[in-house]
Amino acid sequence: MLGGARGDTVCGMRILITGASGHIGGVLATRLRDEHVIRGVDLSPPPADVSDATGGDFVVGDCSDPAVAHRVVDGVDAVVHLAGIATETDLPAILSTHVETTAALLDAMVSHGVARMVYASSNHAVGMTPRCTLLTDDVPPRPDTFYGVGKVAAEALLALYADRFGISSVAMRIGSFLERPETRRGLSTWLSYEDCTRMIRAALTADVDGVTAIYGISNNTDAWWDLEPGRALGYHPRDDAAAFADSIPTRPEDDIEGARVGGPFATKEFHVPPFSEAP
Ligand SMILES: NC(=O)c1ccc[n+]([C@@H]2O[C@H](COP(=O)([O-])OP(=O)(O)OC[C@H]3O[C@@H](n4cnc5c(N)ncnc54)[C@H](O)[C@@H]3O)[C@@H](O)[C@H]2O)c1
Repeated sequence: MLGGARGDTVCGMRILITGASGHIGGVLATRLRDEHVIRGVDLSPPPADVSDATGGDFVVGDCSDPAVAHRVVDGVDAVVHLAGIATETDLPAILSTHVETTAALLDAMVSHGVARMVYASSNHAVGMTPRCTLLTDDVPPRPDTFYGVGKVAAEALLALYADRFGISSVAMRIGSFLERPETRRGLSTWLSYEDCTRMIRAALTADVDGVTAIYGISNNTDAWWDLEPGRALGYHPRDDAAAFADSIPTRPEDDIEGARVGGPFATKEFHVPPFSEAP
């Protein structure tokens, strides 16, 4: 076990949060600031509360740049890698933002002896998987977009660096990180702010041999993604999207969005840009 504690317990590590100026990064940094020493890195300067949570230990830079990666990884105990374009875009940008950032950080971790990465993967790594009784963590990669391809490739890098260099990682296949669920699909896929923090706390300190993939959702009554791998790491979600069910209207697209893991990203209507324009 890293750091000396598990689950919701305080353990006092030095943590790098990449993408710390973003949605998840901000929620996490402000909640973990009293438990851990936090450093942030992002392409964008931090909002005031994140700057405060890091005590000014913040680098504005690109994690795919090895010099930046080495600078920010030096001196930490673990990396929470959230940096990345959080939606579909062209393939070269996806490869830079998800794959090159992950590789540069892992290389820096090898150099500086940092043993744990907690990675923000996505349900879109397996987004084309049809709805089933229980989506287990061992389903084969089945991305719904270039975005999903980027997450599959980043998860593959985690496996490579685990086998080659002994870096242990948790790949969190996050569902829908929102203050509250907004669609009927979200009744299954919602991840609350507090449960996300619980999940990352657990992932930072759990015993992990190699790479473990877990589904990043709350304790939703309508969940069909397996929460047991997360529970085995000490992630015990408490929130339930069902508490919001009465306030979420039904829409014609709900059924098709519920048919595959990736929801709207996995529908025929969702635009995936061409890799290159026709000559
Ligand atoms: N929000 C969700 O529901 C959700 C679901 C699944 C996965 N994820 C993943 O979680 C991570 C964080 O998502 P978010 O919702 O906070 O997104 P966000 O867009 O709010 O934040 C991402 C941050 O990463 C930064 N960034 C992008 N490329 C970078 C680079 N090369 N170097 C440094 N910083 C870089 C951006 O400036 C941004 O501040 C992303 O990797 C995303 O793919 C999010």
